[in-house]
Amino acid sequence: MKKISQHGQWSSRLAFILAATGSAVGLGNIWKFPYITGENGGGAFVLVYLLCIFAIGIPIMMAEIMIGRRGRQSPINTMRDLAKEVGASGAWKWLGWLGVIAGFLILSYYSVIAGWAMAYVVRVGSGVFEGATADGVSNIFGQFVADPEKLLAWHSLFMVITMLVVARGVKGLERAVKFLMPALLVLLVLLVGYAIDQGAFKEAVSFLFSADFSKITSDGILIAMGHAFFTLSLGMGAIMVYGSYLPSNVSIGSTAVIIALADTAVALLAGLAIFPIVFANGLEPGSGPGLIFQTLPIAFGHMAYGSFFGTLFFILLVFAAWSSSISLIEPAVAWLVENKKMSRMRACIWSGLVTWIVGIGTVLSFNITSNIKIFDKTFFDVLDYLTANIMLPLAGLCIALFAGWVMTKESAEEELDFKQLYLFKTWLFLVKFVSPVAVVIVFLKAINVI
Ligand code: PFF
Repeated sequence: MKKISQHGQWSSRLAFILAATGSAVGLGNIWKFPYITGENGGGAFVLVYLLCIFAIGIPIMMAEIMIGRRGRQSPINTMRDLAKEVGASGAWKWLGWLGVIAGFLILSYYSVIAGWAMAYVVRVGSGVFEGATADGVSNIFGQFVADPEKLLAWHSLFMVITMLVVARGVKGLERAVKFLMPALLVLLVLLVGYAIDQGAFKEAVSFLFSADFSKITSDGILIAMGHAFFTLSLGMGAIMVYGSYLPSNVSIGSTAVIIALADTAVALLAGLAIFPIVFANGLEPGSGPGLIFQTLPIAFGHMAYGSFFGTLFFILLVFAAWSSSISLIEPAVAWLVENKKMSRMRACIWSGLVTWIVGIGTVLSFNITSNIKIFDKTFFDVLDYLTANIMLPLAGLCIALFAGWVMTKESAEEELDFKQLYLFKTWLFLVKFVSPVAVVIVFLKAINVI
């Protein structure tokens, strides 16, 4: 018996690829990947991250899409119903809840950082960075994040535009993403061109791609794995809920590979655009979340038509963040509509409000409460660490176990519909054994048990 989703369906395979790529490509690729690579020593970190994308991320992405399409509801209801179908415990619905909570928490800080990108559209556009030095650019950033009112205003604006799109359904975004994603790619390539020409390109390439394993700690390995989940939007129900709107005739395997490759390409390009500028200007690769806001304006400040390209770049970054944000909240909204019989609009107002309030904690953690630390981490750091490095991999582990051990082999095989049997067998082996064992090993290593 084939189910249909009450929320509608993507118009085509391409629409799904764009939406899922829109979800995957976001601040994680352009803002987070470079700074965590910088903080964790470069090449070895990148290698672990790539390994995690291919051995853990892609198979779990296929599993999430497959589960979503089989259940055709919000992740919470999908998990409950699919578990019941095979006589397993309805408690699997808690896995859906874990995702919904992670989504709220991630969006709460994601929106604050997207707000920075919006603020930089205006800053770069106004020409303040023209001819600026590295010190000047860092000062402007420092003054900006020290001002809670500004951060709050931008955070609020970003939340409003996110919820507006979610309230109207995903159709509008489908159209926008079609142009914006290719445009972002073109601009990134242009920036890499600038970096090759003007930056310390060789140094950057060797930083990113020559693996020195003495530079990576077990916590670094956990961060690399967590980032693989974060960047592919896995372990959160986002891809699952998008999968629930996927037409039945679309092949899941090749689609997931395309999404993951596009996402990885954007992250690597961002690294190649940013690190040459970091090294050419004597900046610190490990300077943290402000990294792109302290490096790219230098490039824009010195290249021809820099203010124009800079403005365009930050506009595209905002769009990339926007298309990710809507997927962060979609599982919660779908559940409110299904279970609480709310209209989409009401569901958006409630979930947006809760997220906005939690976001205030992140706003303050960059200024007024920056001294308040738990385990040496600010509120923002705690949220980021907890969601990306613990909640997403844990949920991803459970999704792999569910797909590999709880669902029947026949239903997984039917839904995935691989053209060759060996592909299905490889996938099954990866989700049954490789992904779960790898996640558990990385967890145990990070808490020093092994
Ligand atoms: N993948 C997004 C990024 O890299 O910016 C972030 C994200 C979106 C994480 C959706 C999780 C998610 F469900």
